[in-house]
Amino acid sequence: MPENVSAGGRFNVGGVMLDRPFKIRRLGHFGLDVENIDTCVEFYTRMFGLKIADPIDFGARVPAAEREKLGSGVGYFMRHGTDHHSFVLFPGRFRRRLAKHSVAEVTINQITWQVGSLREVVDGEVWLKQAGIHIARSGRDNPGSNWHAYPHDPEGHPNEIYYGIEQIGWDGLSKPQGMHRRDYREAPALPHRSEFAEVEEGLAAAIDIRSGYRFKEPLAETYDVGGILMARPFKVTKVGPVRIFASDVPGAIAYYRDTMGLRVTEEIDWNGHRCIFLRANTEHHSLAIYPMALRAELGLSAHTTLFSCGFQVADYSQLRGAVAFFKERGVTVRTLPPELFPGIDYSAFVIDPEGHAIQLYYAMTQIGWDGRPRAASAGLPIDNDNWPEVISDRPDAFDGESYLGPWS
Ligand SMILES: [Fe+2]
Repeated sequence: MPENVSAGGRFNVGGVMLDRPFKIRRLGHFGLDVENIDTCVEFYTRMFGLKIADPIDFGARVPAAEREKLGSGVGYFMRHGTDHHSFVLFPGRFRRRLAKHSVAEVTINQITWQVGSLREVVDGEVWLKQAGIHIARSGRDNPGSNWHAYPHDPEGHPNEIYYGIEQIGWDGLSKPQGMHRRDYREAPALPHRSEFAEVEEGLAAAIDIRSGYRFKEPLAETYDVGGILMARPFKVTKVGPVRIFASDVPGAIAYYRDTMGLRVTEEIDWNGHRCIFLRANTEHHSLAIYPMALRAELGLSAHTTLFSCGFQVADYSQLRGAVAFFKERGVTVRTLPPELFPGIDYSAFVIDPEGHAIQLYYAMTQIGWDGRPRAASAGLPIDNDNWPEVISDRPDAFDGESYLGPWS
């Protein structure tokens, strides 16, 4: 058992007794396996403005004779803010070759949840294993430096709980390779030395701290965005929510609610389909589960169990600007029935080169102390064929997690 278990089977998490030894605070990052990595990384960096934090080469993990058949083995950690990565793209052929368990149609390589401490990760892994959850691996990887454990949901979607992801600061440089002193293939003994102590060790070893990766904006900065000259008319300020299709909706709900500890905000019936919305914090939802049968009905790609990954932009004007930006460049942009997305009003889906959908939106309803969402009738009436130029009545349009730091 985790060390902090009490006689009642509950757990002390930062001085608060909980039913599991960790508490998910937020969706931290999300990742996709893709077939044409070069096309996709260009799409996500140039079109969405994500920055590469570090590449990672899976090639060395496969025998040399096989590498040529598999194509590029390079994957990319990308970021929209200071977290080392908020979105990752990995080469699908390599990932399937290396994976012990790979599930058809699962192109999600991680749905990643931030918990509050290293102890929550370590105790969480023990508890999850005891609950019979498959843990693909645990420890700590570089690049990114975060401590983690990877439980899988019953549909085969890799989840991750983590603590302590590397932060990238004003100079845009990632932690240099020389600072990647060691990887951990299992949970560490606690307490572990601090990040500060590790950096001190690296500095004492005279590592060139300016030798990390630094991404350069590939497009000219021509748009006035809130008084800042930017390369696109919008800024991605948050990644999520994640929407998945499940073949066993009750089984998926049980995993995310009872095992991972997300809270159900609400469920809806849409054309006979049961759709569930769960939150980690005060956002209306950070994960939504939809029945698999809905995928074809909505005309979404049959190659993936991902419905969409959300990219929030800073405001409504930017959402309108983003939609125009993508359409002008010939990218497919769709709207879908807004009833499927309670908590969000205006949103549009950008289809990436492999058919994955990215949901652009600007505001998410926040849930208060009583845990109750507002009635659907209280929301704005949405006409997707006629988006207004301005929103005249949404006092909570800027509520929720604020973006820290400059936009570019
Ligand atoms: Fe991760």
